[in-house]
Amino acid sequence: MKSSRKVQIVLLTGGSSGIGAATARLLAENGMTVYSGSRRGTAGEPREGIIPIRLDVNDENSCREAVDRIVSEQGRLDAVICNAGNGIYGPIEGTTDDEARYQFETCVFGGLKTIQACLPVMRKQGFGRIITVTSVMAILQLPYQGLYSAAKAAMMSLSESLSMELKGTGIQCCSILPGDVATGFTAARTFTAYSKSPDCPYRKQMEKNLAQIEKDENSGMAPAVIGKAILRQLRRRRMSIRKIPRIDYKLVGFVVRILPEEWKIPILAKLYHA
Ligand SMILES: NC(=O)c1ccc[n+]([C@@H]2O[C@H](COP(=O)([O-])OP(=O)(O)OC[C@H]3O[C@@H](n4cnc5c(N)ncnc54)[C@H](OP(=O)(O)O)[C@@H]3O)[C@@H](O)[C@H]2O)c1
Repeated sequence: MKSSRKVQIVLLTGGSSGIGAATARLLAENGMTVYSGSRRGTAGEPREGIIPIRLDVNDENSCREAVDRIVSEQGRLDAVICNAGNGIYGPIEGTTDDEARYQFETCVFGGLKTIQACLPVMRKQGFGRIITVTSVMAILQLPYQGLYSAAKAAMMSLSESLSMELKGTGIQCCSILPGDVATGFTAARTFTAYSKSPDCPYRKQMEKNLAQIEKDENSGMAPAVIGKAILRQLRRRRMSIRKIPRIDYKLVGFVVRILPEEWKIPILAKLYHA
């Protein structure tokens, strides 16, 4: 087991925007080579240390090709950051199977495909770091984003089971749980058809809820805050299993952990206009 090896070569998904783009910049500035994958295949301004690649996490071959390319060019793959994601909004009632699958496809199965493509290489090396960008919503479920909350909780859960399964292999897992971050995520959010129908019974509550969450996101922290948290984890000899960046969100995480559900759910329902 070589858990102290320095992280040099990184595969990052969702690098064309927001948290991914900021993380790629920070890691490159700190001497790492980042293969920054996204469907667009861009990574902002060309920069030494960032190699933009076209990658769709929903396509198993695309994930495998990205890993094969990295190994053939660099001979190693030290870390993967599963960051690609999207959000769907709408009440659970009326969410279609396809809409629910769309949410899980990228945020859960996409992460799973990416990790599965990296594991054989990491296992052979006896070293690897797997970081999944989940969300505080993995531990703090919110109304009208039930599918998103469930997908993030599922990914966090997978990361924790995996860290046990990989015991003794030199491969470590860490889940990063960001709070509100100002990125393209808000504009890219999609809505269920039911949430837009004129006779949807949740309309009034949703209007207030959506206005609040969009305001929180648009005034959220800079994506570089999450990039720095990721960089810190990659530099640690032993990564945290779960990390919530920034003290205010850490505090939220602590309160959520100690509050009984019978109190937590009514408080959140009131705060988030359910
Ligand atoms: N913003 C927040 O408040 C917040 C809070 C907690 C957690 N998060 C999580 O942080 C992660 C990054 O989100 P962000 O806020 O930076 O949002 P963003 O600006 O919308 O970035 C999302 C990234 O994911 C990529 N992506 C989406 N589907 C993909 C696919 N099938 N294959 C490959 N790449 C794909 C997008 O690139 P292409 O469109 O080019 O493929 C883009 O680079 C997400 O997992 C999100 O759930 C965000």
